Amino acid sequence: MDTTNRRILTGDRPTGRLHLGHYVGSLRHRVRLQDEYECYFIIADLHMLTTKNSPEDISHIADNARGMVLDYLAAGIDPAKSTIFLQSAVHETYELALLFGNLVTVPRLVRVPSIKEMARAAMIDVETIPFGLLGYPVLQAADILLPRAHLVPVGKDNQAHVEVTREIARRFNSLYGEVFPIPDDLVEGETLPGTDGQAKMSKSIGNAIFLSDDAQTVIKKVHSMYTDPNRIRADIPGTVEGNPVFTYLDQFDPDGATVAELKARYRAGTVGDVAVKERLAGVLNAFLDPMRERAAHYSAQSGYVDEVIYQGTLRYRTIAAETLYEVKKAMGLTGTFNRIARKAEERAKKLAKTAAAGGA
Ligand code: TRP
Repeated sequence: MDTTNRRILTGDRPTGRLHLGHYVGSLRHRVRLQDEYECYFIIADLHMLTTKNSPEDISHIADNARGMVLDYLAAGIDPAKSTIFLQSAVHETYELALLFGNLVTVPRLVRVPSIKEMARAAMIDVETIPFGLLGYPVLQAADILLPRAHLVPVGKDNQAHVEVTREIARRFNSLYGEVFPIPDDLVEGETLPGTDGQAKMSKSIGNAIFLSDDAQTVIKKVHSMYTDPNRIRADIPGTVEGNPVFTYLDQFDPDGATVAELKARYRAGTVGDVAVKERLAGVLNAFLDPMRERAAHYSAQSGYVDEVIYQGTLRYRTIAAETLYEVKKAMGLTGTFNRIARKAEERAKKLAKTAAAGGA
């Protein structure tokens, strides 16, 4: 299928710096997809507010967003190909989310499994769940349908949100006319275990290797990694399966033959943990070096990351304004008030012109 002009919308809540688990699970796919699709990457700061909204919580969002976008760029997301934008700066998002709230029922949202999980994680009682948290998938539907995306790469936990999005899109189209494509989700299933051997690498657990870790930090983290707990000496047979050191080697070592040989020697008890870890530390540092170089390059230009977000948001707002204009017209909202409709259309066109002229 020809995928040019087909749109992808995906993104993350700005929770902080990204780690190898993010790279394996989603970033590397995005880097590839940006050559095939028109890609929009959302910095979902409004979604942060659904569980954490004190002034103290909010004060960290901007820096988290900067760190995250720097990691995107370091990993190879190219702002000349893809649009990175800030959700809270697109007022059409709020408008569309409000309109969508009428196309889905409360019991339907209560059934979305991740909502209860998020409430539990944030120590929010489901009985007194905030409207905003219950509406998390509705806001996400607005994110996805505003650019009229065709494909939404997400983790398993977000699949149910894309399902709600499809239901809303179908409901809208059947009530008011075909405005939205029905988006597919593209499930990014892979997870990377943590350095402690737990199933998932996670910042909050403290078992992560970050894309921004320096070489010494990586060496230290790798040498304190969990391996085979039954292997008390290097000359007894070890277990490769479920041993995160080998999982990482499988994932990141370009030399498969050497990895196979190390596995055989590990099983036979002829190579020590230290030697295998030395190999892994070298492999990871070689893998991260180009990212460190790119990050250093972008960090050296003061304000560069902010400018990427600004330009992306500006470009995105043109698309958002167009869709919202179509939505209101289809619903006969402003469409019944000619002067207001004309103003909205003018605004959409003006934004398009500004974006074409390169912003400001
Ligand atoms: N819900 C996503 C997360 O778990 C973030 C997100 C917000 C998103 N809007 C989106 C993902 C739209 C894909 C598409 O962090």
